Amino acid sequence: MAKTGPGGSTTTPARWKPAGAGIAFGGDYNPEQWPEPVWEEDVRLMREAGVNLVSLGIFAWARLEPEPGRLDLAWLDRVLDLLAGAGVSAALATPTAAPPPWLVRAHPEILPVTVDGVTLWHGSRRHYCPHVPAYREAGLRIVRVIAERYAHHPAVGLWHVDNELGSFPYTDCYCPASAAAFRAWLQARHGDLRRLGDAWGTSVWSQGYTDWAEIEPPRRTPAAANPGQRLDWQRFWSDTWRDWFVAQVRILRSVAPDLPATTNFIGIHPPIDYWRLAAEEDIVSEDSYPDPADPRWMVETAMRGDLMRSLGGGKPWIVMESSLGLVNWRDRNVARRPGAFRLGSLQAVARGADAVMAFQWRQAQVGAERFLTGMVGHAGARGRVWEEVTALGRDLGRIGEIAGSRLRAEVAIVLDWESRWALEADGMLSHDLRQDERTADWYGALYRRGVTADFAHPEADLSGYRLVLAPELHLVSDAAAANLRGWVERGGTLVLGFFSGIVDPETRVRLGGYPAPFRELLGLTVEEHLPLAVGDANRVAFAGGPTVPCDLWTEVVRAEGAEVVATFTDDLLAGMPAVTRHPWGRGAAVYVATRLDPAGYDAVMAQAIAVAAIPAGPVPPAGLEVTVRTDGTRSWRFALNFGTEPVDLPVAVGVELLTGARVGGSLRIAPGDAAIVRTPG
Ligand code: GAL
Repeated sequence: MAKTGPGGSTTTPARWKPAGAGIAFGGDYNPEQWPEPVWEEDVRLMREAGVNLVSLGIFAWARLEPEPGRLDLAWLDRVLDLLAGAGVSAALATPTAAPPPWLVRAHPEILPVTVDGVTLWHGSRRHYCPHVPAYREAGLRIVRVIAERYAHHPAVGLWHVDNELGSFPYTDCYCPASAAAFRAWLQARHGDLRRLGDAWGTSVWSQGYTDWAEIEPPRRTPAAANPGQRLDWQRFWSDTWRDWFVAQVRILRSVAPDLPATTNFIGIHPPIDYWRLAAEEDIVSEDSYPDPADPRWMVETAMRGDLMRSLGGGKPWIVMESSLGLVNWRDRNVARRPGAFRLGSLQAVARGADAVMAFQWRQAQVGAERFLTGMVGHAGARGRVWEEVTALGRDLGRIGEIAGSRLRAEVAIVLDWESRWALEADGMLSHDLRQDERTADWYGALYRRGVTADFAHPEADLSGYRLVLAPELHLVSDAAAANLRGWVERGGTLVLGFFSGIVDPETRVRLGGYPAPFRELLGLTVEEHLPLAVGDANRVAFAGGPTVPCDLWTEVVRAEGAEVVATFTDDLLAGMPAVTRHPWGRGAAVYVATRLDPAGYDAVMAQAIAVAAIPAGPVPPAGLEVTVRTDGTRSWRFALNFGTEPVDLPVAVGVELLTGARVGGSLRIAPGDAAIVRTPG
């Protein structure tokens, strides 16, 4: 299959086919936890709820292969036949996320080992190290069995590989097999020990290596660990999870070349460079569990939706799991409010999803997750949750024509996992430099302004965007720096956050004045980094605009051609530049030298949007989220009211799909409700 660069898969899944066309709906289905008569009721209820896609068999290895080499697949045959008969497709899983106890007994070396040398045992799930041959062999064997048996089953619509690769708390393993694989990976990356020594800076603290065998994973050390070693370890584990996906997909594709494969992502998940993993997928999917105790949960899910769409190069994506009400893995588990599942699901569609699935179909009676809300609860198919589920099933049935359409964004937010790893490493100037938080700061300003954004890798083709935001691009490759500079030169507007452009891909500081690769572009030099203590703050005064608080980080900036847009007001920095703008080629580069409060980011964004000439409409009322999907001939305008007051939205003449009503002029949207208006064009 033809693929493009980071995140840019060009393939369209040939056979992803929820039985009815349209937006697929469903959940995690675990029939192995229930006796057979329940299965019949399940498929009957699925039809009643409008469910047409379920994920299946994710943790069923011990049931599929109860003893080494002895397979029991008849039950899965029956489940798949039942699903096919009911018009329900399956995202059929490879069950590698939960190896059976017999495999552990025969090969205890498959168990993962923590940084402190503690073995993580079975009795739960994800108790495997993908570097251990006994695990890989057994895993790939069961993958082949499933591929060969089910690739052509009419119920199977796509492959669901493993589950949440690299998910917390187990993200990396320090066992001997991992250590050996790390050494091999380092040899392939650096070639010889001299080059590795240069990259890691082993001249510091007597770390010169004379033999590959001396190199260890970054285990617990008495003092700060080598940052290059740590960064390579993170790259190595990111590659490890991707390679485990690829090893499985190779088998699946060899049997069924046209059946798409995915693995479920987890937002801006730290351990894996999702650009690289997504490039191996046919379709991107993610699991969505916003914290109901966070009143801004919808901003986070909006951001994650935009990221998932971007990881797939703009193609429709799948919500593989989402929370219906309760989960059990927070310290205190607040339930989602009534209506939040429906509105959150429509939000995912509004941001490009073509399938919405919940965790899980039938609430478990036994095991670790029996208190998590199910589509069918402990009381059966009734009650508030069931009503919400069936209502959403009807809604999705009404909006099927939207499937396949896309969003258009003129703004991109740069996101680079390597830079994140470098920024969040030990031994940095502040423990509070968090890529996801800074990204959310910037994203929040766009969200409040009602502007849709894509995410982009810093080396990606940015020519489709007018405005690019790069919050804290700490590590930058020569190629990425040249890409951003060239794009500004050709007319783009770039907004760059503090502490950007500081290190190269080996995490070596770029010399010649901070931020070396961007100084000319920005028209300034950063002379000092001045992180602030917890509770400490400064203020930033915008010329002719607001004065807003800032905290976390400040810098001494010397303008060398840049126009000063805002200055610090207090302490050592009083009167010095905090926000600058510099014309460059046909574009402009804005620099923000501190962490602003939301009003500050709003001010920066308002200016940047104006400079970039983004055709933004009026600022939407608080709580209202508006996006547009289009297929070139028709557009669908989604308006979701996350607020507590009704909103009157001006709308063009068209059809509101959820009610089927012809609309035009103004449309009232109740709190917690949504409207989707189709118009030509
Ligand atoms: C996900 C996981 C599911 C289920 C769910 C519960 O992370 O993939 O299998 O455990 O959490 O919230």
